[in-house]
Amino acid sequence: MNVKVCVGSNCTLLGAMGILDQIEDLKDIINEDLDNYNVEELEVEAVKCLGFCKGTNKKISPVVVIDDELIFNATSQIVMEKIINKVRKK
Ligand code: FES
Repeated sequence: MNVKVCVGSNCTLLGAMGILDQIEDLKDIINEDLDNYNVEELEVEAVKCLGFCKGTNKKISPVVVIDDELIFNATSQIVMEKIINKVRKK
């Protein structure tokens, strides 16, 4: 799984760093509970402005992309839930 967190200025202002920190914490938790989670492919990237905030008056930041799924107005809670659902062993 690939998680991209936009750390362009708009997304940073609206909390992207907090989301990144939470993902790092979550990775530690997952790594200590390998009986219940798969982590081999959890790759996290901080990326420059993805361009979605340009030319719109709508509030869309922070932006996170999990695999091909775009998440606007991302919160730590939403991102954590989506990651956990994907890495939890069935
Ligand atoms: S700063 Fe994140 S989409 Fe532009």
